[in-house]
Amino acid sequence: MGLLHFFKSYPKNDNLEWLGVDMHSHLLPAIDDGSPDVATSVNYIKQLAELGLSKFICTPHIFNEVYPNSKKTIQPALLQTQQEVKNQNINVEIFAAAEYMMDVDFLEILKNEEILTLPNNYILIEMSYAAKNNNIEQYIFDLSIKGYKPILAHPERYKYYHANLKQYKRFKDMGCLLQVNALSVTGYYGKDVKDVALTLIKQNLIDLVGTDTHHQKHLDALSDYTRKGKFYELLGKCDMQNKSLFM
Ligand SMILES: [Fe+2]
Repeated sequence: MGLLHFFKSYPKNDNLEWLGVDMHSHLLPAIDDGSPDVATSVNYIKQLAELGLSKFICTPHIFNEVYPNSKKTIQPALLQTQQEVKNQNINVEIFAAAEYMMDVDFLEILKNEEILTLPNNYILIEMSYAAKNNNIEQYIFDLSIKGYKPILAHPERYKYYHANLKQYKRFKDMGCLLQVNALSVTGYYGKDVKDVALTLIKQNLIDLVGTDTHHQKHLDALSDYTRKGKFYELLGKCDMQNKSLFM
């Protein structure tokens, strides 16, 4: 072996096997702004499986104004997808939870409906990108006293917190986990989002990674960065809990 060979680093982590579980995606067909039909869903799942993911907890939006989903809409979409994945002999597990928008409608849902959680009562929540919800801590508190364990989706994407990084620590102190979008660290959502994502990772505030896959453009970028070993470099060494909590 030549010296050059010896020092060359090989991209042995050019896949997402270290992550294993994708716990945030919009892969179920025709119920939100993700996959439009079941053929597309299976195609997306196949691509993610080829990157090394083997378990998917799909999280359709439940956002009454725009995507008024519930178990009634999510369960059939899940069954249809599971069936087609089986028909095509793709060796992955597919489950469903939801991504809940924290707005006034959610309080009604929490009162009246079955909450679609990830395993062990974890619940994936999101907030408006446009305007800060001044009651968000109350929502997190209400969820906690009901026995749910909130996970805030893509904290790095809420620009109104970018000048107030202390807020992220407050969420953590309240028992809320933080889930970064994989593509945030690539600059896909812009430089500010990337910088905040990397800062949160460096401060050990991030617990989980999700792909938040909606469409083929996301998959192209995910594939590109995975194959270049970038996700492993930036996220894979950070002790993410996807496998320990959800595998
Ligand atoms: Fe999402």
